[in-house]
Amino acid sequence: MSKNYKKIYENSIKNPEEFWQEISNDVFWFKKPSQILKKNNPPFYKWFTDGVTNTCYNALDVHIDEGRGDKIALIYDSPITGNKKKYSYNELREKVSKFAGALKNQSINKGDRVIIYMPMIPEAVIAMLACGRIGAVHSVVFGGFASNELSSRIDDSKAKLLVTASCGFEPGRTVEYKPLVDKALELSSHKIEKVIFFQRPGNEVKLNTPRDIDWDEALSNAQNTDCVEMNSNDYAYILYTSGTTGIPKGIVRDIGGHIVALKWTMKNIYNIDTCDVWWSASDIGWIVGHSYIVYAPLFKGCTTVLFEGKPVGTPDAGAFWKIISDYKVKSLFTAPTAFRAIKKEDPDGKFFSKYDLSSFESLFLAGERADPDTIKWAEKLLKVPVIDHWWQTETSWAISSNCTGIEMQETKYGSACRAVPGYDVKVLKSDSSVAKPNEMGDIVVKLPLPPGTFPTLWNADERYKKTYMSNYEGYYQTYDAGHIDDDGYIWIMSRTDDIINVAGHRLSTGAIEEVLSEHQSVAECAVLGIADKLKGQLPIGLVVLKAGVTKDNETISKECIQMVRDKIGPVAAFKVAIVIKRLPKTRSGKILRGTIRKIADKEEYKMPATIDDPAILDEIKEDLKNNNILK
Ligand code: COA
Ligand code: AMP
Repeated sequence: MSKNYKKIYENSIKNPEEFWQEISNDVFWFKKPSQILKKNNPPFYKWFTDGVTNTCYNALDVHIDEGRGDKIALIYDSPITGNKKKYSYNELREKVSKFAGALKNQSINKGDRVIIYMPMIPEAVIAMLACGRIGAVHSVVFGGFASNELSSRIDDSKAKLLVTASCGFEPGRTVEYKPLVDKALELSSHKIEKVIFFQRPGNEVKLNTPRDIDWDEALSNAQNTDCVEMNSNDYAYILYTSGTTGIPKGIVRDIGGHIVALKWTMKNIYNIDTCDVWWSASDIGWIVGHSYIVYAPLFKGCTTVLFEGKPVGTPDAGAFWKIISDYKVKSLFTAPTAFRAIKKEDPDGKFFSKYDLSSFESLFLAGERADPDTIKWAEKLLKVPVIDHWWQTETSWAISSNCTGIEMQETKYGSACRAVPGYDVKVLKSDSSVAKPNEMGDIVVKLPLPPGTFPTLWNADERYKKTYMSNYEGYYQTYDAGHIDDDGYIWIMSRTDDIINVAGHRLSTGAIEEVLSEHQSVAECAVLGIADKLKGQLPIGLVVLKAGVTKDNETISKECIQMVRDKIGPVAAFKVAIVIKRLPKTRSGKILRGTIRKIADKEEYKMPATIDDPAILDEIKEDLKNNNILK
């Protein structure tokens, strides 16, 4: 095993407090913490408890104080609209501090929640950082979610204010936020007092005064506002993620640990220094966007790229190479699906050869399993290391990765490399014993989790304990299954709950089932994620109708698809709902989703011993064939 990595990793596990204390000296504190880890109330561990700091100060002001105010902090490039803009640290702080003043004018104070529902524009980043500046807790909602999802987040967070834009742009379609926001506010039982709208030039919308406020008007009487002192364990943000039921889980991030861990990762995992340009092609609505478009690169003081576009179609499969070449990007982080999309459109890399990528040193992939074919294709094309690393919304930074800033490690295709310092990863069997090398089991992390991970769920300590910390005492259950090989490489094979990954987006099949069950003709249903060459997985729905329904199957199927789009959003990519006669079940009535998925994916399956009626599986096969799922 590589020496540097081994030494640092082992030290992080044996002496976590000393390890993180030393790293914490690299961030700005109004008051340095004297207690590094409070561990008297497991599983609720608290890092840097008596430290006092501020997220925005560490992202912006500290670099200006150190004389780097003219350095470019943010590059915005939008091939969809043709707009481009660069912001120095000075310029970005000016904008953020003014918007912080605008939030103050709307009575937003320490601890108040602000929902941000915006496209990939600089104002979204400005709003996030402005919240941090005044100690408000932001909750960014991905723009591809529909009103229902937005309203459930409003209700759970009890936000005081919502910041949005007049619209977003998807290839071939304008996403009108105003009707989505209006409907979400109508649906929510918690009442949001004010909505700030950023009017995108040429796409302005009529506002409902006095509830709605134009972004420019909100700024017109705002004062520049300084960073407030925040306790290390106050929350920086809530990010909702899919749970095993339709009710999303509010992952919270505490301020001190978040700054310490994320800043450290930029050099140690990604080998990025202050002088570098870094690009994460994700969306600010996801954890990758929070951590690696906004926070980590700004904590580090490097340049980050905000890209409003797609890997293909904006305008072509050379979009990524153009950004790398134009801004001399050193490393890119994206989801494997983006590379599958480029590979599909331009398998021979014709677009690639048009650009100068001499600045480019590494590609990082995460969010879903990176298939070896795609990694090898990217390596051959780019001639740089392609690194698969594994992490989750819950952790906010990688659990396993090739830590390129510590020491380059060998690539094993299909594995997300070794545990990152700070994470004591184990594979446990159902009897809680530790699996042998190469033996499959539940992947868990020994408590305490390192700084920057989730200390609890928003207003749901019990759910946190029950969902994540109870099945294996003393461990965090990741809900990923896999194995660790003889060299300590971690192999993530599948989820153990109902989560599926569609184009790197995390979705709950249970949540989609909840929507389908609301259709008045549907008696019962099952949603499963089947393998897809481009998006990794795609959800399909199987619905059984109530007795006496006379509507034709095609209409019901279309209605089901539309319901999922309306209630969850286009991001669910739910395009197949098949009406079937019966669902295969165990004798105790459990739907055999795993077996249906294996049939759909043409995997081998054993006839479940407890199946109620084996003939149903043949019916399902026919249904899948008739609908072109099984070819
Ligand atoms: N706002 C509104 N709608 C959005 C959206 C947003 N921010 N992001 C996606 N959508 C919509 C899309 O327009 C699409 O709608 P449609 O059904 O009307 O076509 C739907 O949600 C599904 O989107 P997506 O899964 O992204 O599929 P796609 O076919 O538009 O694009 C890829 C396919 C591979 C190009 C795209 O998924 C991609 O760029 N992936 C990169 C992965 C990524 O960023 N992952 C984030 C985690 S790291
Ligand atoms: P999210 O919280 O949206 O980031 O999704 C986290 C989930 O995505 C993990 O629990 C995994 O199931 C999956 N995932 C993320 N990265 C990887 C990876 N490198 N390999 C396999 N699965 C991954």
